[in-house]
Amino acid sequence: MPVKLIDIINSFDKILDVAGVEAPRQNVERMLEKILGLSKVDLYLDPKRQVSDEDAAQLRGLIDRRLNNEPLQYILGETEFYGIRLKCDRRALIPRPETEFVVSKGLNLIKDKKGLNILDLACGSGNISIAMAASSPYQNYYASDLSLDAVSLARENAELNDLADRIEFHQGNLFEPFKKKDIVFDMILANPPYIKESELAKLHEQVRKYEPQLALTSGQDGMDFIRQMLTEAPEYLNRRAYLIFEVAFDQMDTIRDLAENETKFDVVEVVEDYSGIERVIVLRMGE
Ligand SMILES: C[S@@+](CC[C@H](N)C(=O)[O-])C[C@H]1O[C@@H](n2cnc3c(N)ncnc32)[C@H](O)[C@@H]1O
Repeated sequence: MPVKLIDIINSFDKILDVAGVEAPRQNVERMLEKILGLSKVDLYLDPKRQVSDEDAAQLRGLIDRRLNNEPLQYILGETEFYGIRLKCDRRALIPRPETEFVVSKGLNLIKDKKGLNILDLACGSGNISIAMAASSPYQNYYASDLSLDAVSLARENAELNDLADRIEFHQGNLFEPFKKKDIVFDMILANPPYIKESELAKLHEQVRKYEPQLALTSGQDGMDFIRQMLTEAPEYLNRRAYLIFEVAFDQMDTIRDLAENETKFDVVEVVEDYSGIERVIVLRMGE
């Protein structure tokens, strides 16, 4: 029997709330927006409208997935990053708001330059290079990831944003895809895997069970990828080129030390995220 929209919203809001799901009403609203093809405003314009049995059953299915701790972005199959719509599924990490600082720093440093070679290393869903290319299209973008799944999602996202012809995608370990190529980069941007392996079990099930482990952990101290990137990157960078990347909440002191004392880079800037945590580091190759 069809039920009123507002009654459905209220009852599923309560179910998710009791189960401890964060922002329960927002979850229900987003699912209904998708199922009914409505905006949030439309949802509340006629709250007494009837919802068909099929639509209610579809919502129940999505709610069950959320009750199993599947992230909302995977359930909806999409997310937003730096104002851009991206497909989002278990092939890659869900882009996080902190990573937008990597993009904004990159864009600030490009200013009105054109024709730069820019690499999105460990690209996942392609969020960084796609956001960069959307704002500054006249550069040569490259993106790579060890995960073939991630690269296929990143390609689909570039197509979705009409940027497929602006970004060249590669699959492989760190810089391996560029070893035999004659490319030197002016900027490398990355949000590397940086969680300690021992911390994996402590992560929320929503992350641990659904997001790819390759995207999360990197050795015992979470630094394997970053150390290798700092060692190998100079070979692929022009003089005075930039390396900009995100780090874990407790890694900045170690990384600043490492960069200043054991690499060919100078530390240009450390950027705090929305919570005041030192989150992104901007390095520059020495002369
Ligand atoms: C934290 S995710 C970041 C993805 C995306 N840039 C973002 O911001 O959402 C890290 C990515 O590193 C990739 N990765 C892990 N080890 C790698 C390696 N050795 N070489 C290249 N990519 C790697 C993973 O597949 C994953 O997509």
